[in-house]
Amino acid sequence: MARPLIEIKGVRHAYQTHSGRLPVLDGLMLAVPEGGFSAVVGPSGCGKSTLTRLIAGLLKPDEGEVWLHGELVGGPKSIVGMAFQNPVMLEWRTVLQNVMLPLEIVPTRMSKREQEDRARHLLALVGLEGFEDKRPSELSGGMRQRASLCRAIVHQPEVLILDEPFAALDAFTREDLWQTMHAVKEKEPFTGVLITHDLREAIFLANEVVVLSGRPARTQYVMDVHLKGPRDIEHLYTPQTADALSILRHQIRIAQGRAPAKEADR
Ligand SMILES: Nc1ncnc2c1ncn2[C@@H]1O[C@H](COP(=O)(O)OP(=O)(O)OP(=O)(O)O)[C@@H](O)[C@H]1O
Ligand SMILES: [Mg+2]
Repeated sequence: MARPLIEIKGVRHAYQTHSGRLPVLDGLMLAVPEGGFSAVVGPSGCGKSTLTRLIAGLLKPDEGEVWLHGELVGGPKSIVGMAFQNPVMLEWRTVLQNVMLPLEIVPTRMSKREQEDRARHLLALVGLEGFEDKRPSELSGGMRQRASLCRAIVHQPEVLILDEPFAALDAFTREDLWQTMHAVKEKEPFTGVLITHDLREAIFLANEVVVLSGRPARTQYVMDVHLKGPRDIEHLYTPQTADALSILRHQIRIAQGRAPAKEADR
């Protein structure tokens, strides 16, 4: 079998804090094949954002290994694109210029013209045609998040990491963005990890849901998601999805220490 594009092997990590050592990750395992999209859920503070920093090479694990595309990660990687809950946009630049920012940092063979065409193409793909010359403050939260998604993929990263990108949005805007994510993935294939607190979002967007235990986090449970055909919000209201959500909710309760682990073996 081909090697996973993202591979986390037995990663342990602790932060040094004023009050001592805080173990955050404890032997975490994760494997995402090329083109795969894994959602990672777990209790607040269990170490999910720490995991994203390790994948991006912004943090080195104390133990264990992070591999991206067959290479051991030892520092920041330009093949990784990232988007977060509260996108930071530069107010003195237009939306288009904000989207093009990574192309000024990551080496690219594209000419200036091609860079701009690509940024415009992505903005149109997420429904922001006509907003290219606006300033970030002129956009709604959902629009800013769409622009941030474009910025995360403008340099054609092989790996996309999304850390709760839709958490601050209202439910309808969030569902719109889920649909946009599917459209983007179809046109601009990537291998991704999505951190989320929303189990429906995990099921709707990912092909695998990984539940992390409470801190220090390890991989507690992995669920394959089998939604057939083009994904439709209606899929979230089928009996199969209700069953999957119930299993995941139970796993989260175990991770929070609110249900005994042995119940998981039922
Ligand atoms: N730079 C840091 N130095 C010290 N402690 C940190 C640092 N970053 C995070 N922590 C601590 O590590 C733990 C895990 O943090 P992390 O941000 O990875 O959690 P999380 O799962 O993303 O949480 P949330 O769901 O609330 O976003 C938390 O207890 C946090 O306080
Ligand atoms: Mg976090």
